Amino acid sequence: MDTSHTKTIIELKKKFTEDVNSAKNIGALMLLHTEYLGRQGKINSLFKSIPIKENPQIGKQINDLKVFVTKELQDKTHNLPEGDAIDVTIPGITPPLGSLHLITQAIEEIENIFFKLGFVRRRYPEVDTDWYYAEGLNISKDHPARDDQETFYLGENVVLTAHTSNGQLHEMELKKTPPIKMINIGKTYRRQIDATHNPMFHQFEGLVIDEGINITNLIGTTEYFAKAYFGQDRKIRLRPHHFQFTEPSFEIDISCGLCHGKGVIDGVRCKLCKSGWLELGGAGMVHPNVLKNGGLDSQIYTGFAFGWGVERVLMMKSGLNLPDLRMLFSDDLRFLSQFS
Ligand code: PHE
Repeated sequence: MDTSHTKTIIELKKKFTEDVNSAKNIGALMLLHTEYLGRQGKINSLFKSIPIKENPQIGKQINDLKVFVTKELQDKTHNLPEGDAIDVTIPGITPPLGSLHLITQAIEEIENIFFKLGFVRRRYPEVDTDWYYAEGLNISKDHPARDDQETFYLGENVVLTAHTSNGQLHEMELKKTPPIKMINIGKTYRRQIDATHNPMFHQFEGLVIDEGINITNLIGTTEYFAKAYFGQDRKIRLRPHHFQFTEPSFEIDISCGLCHGKGVIDGVRCKLCKSGWLELGGAGMVHPNVLKNGGLDSQIYTGFAFGWGVERVLMMKSGLNLPDLRMLFSDDLRFLSQFS
């Protein structure tokens, strides 16, 4: 009999006994099962490496070891203390569910309204050159209109866009010939920060250009949006205003949802609007110089544009009375998860 083989077998048994005694959970036992009894496991390797036919005794010893290992692993598995076993009747661990941010939800709602009118969704650069952002929009280098916007300059000619109107010229260049009907929704930046302003916010910019587009198209589109987004009972009105890139220009107001445009509730001034109307944002007929800068013949084509704040319409609609607008941009799940 070959004693060196017997010695190997005894040592393996000893090693296994140590291993199995230190295994503390099902996972460790499963690993041991593979390590000793698997196809490439230690016991199978013994069978392969020792010429069993000439050593039937050794073959029996290996087989006894295999029976021992199998039984030990089974016993140990059954005898594991309660807590270590897998109880398949315990409810599973649900991973935390994410959801779309409140602003993303608003953007989707806004774009869906414009999709119904045949608009295409665009995204144009948030970092742009002075030409697209201002000069091409009829705002010359020294024009006081630049002061309003408190722009972040990244270089002499490069800005973080303070409005989405830069998308107007990009769209004209992209499409080359009208009809143009785009809704450009993106991030905008202004150097202002307090409870009602965040340096980064979002705007949605509509642009429609074709032959024969006039103010009634602007009014109809605005009214459709106001009713679809805020409710069928809402009305709009236009107030004269000034923008360099539109002529004529307007501020669009929508009737207040609280006092229904009356400005008073039970003889008391409406707290929300004070006047019956809430300001939506700017709009107007595209200035001929802007059409020209976009490569279009202003004798043939006319158009209208508007640019409104996503956070603004969201707050107006939701009635959320946030003490601080900047909560929208915080990562506080106690706040955010209310809107999932
Ligand atoms: N860009 C203007 C703003 O940010 C809004 C606007 C867009 C006005 C398009 C007219 C036409 O206030």
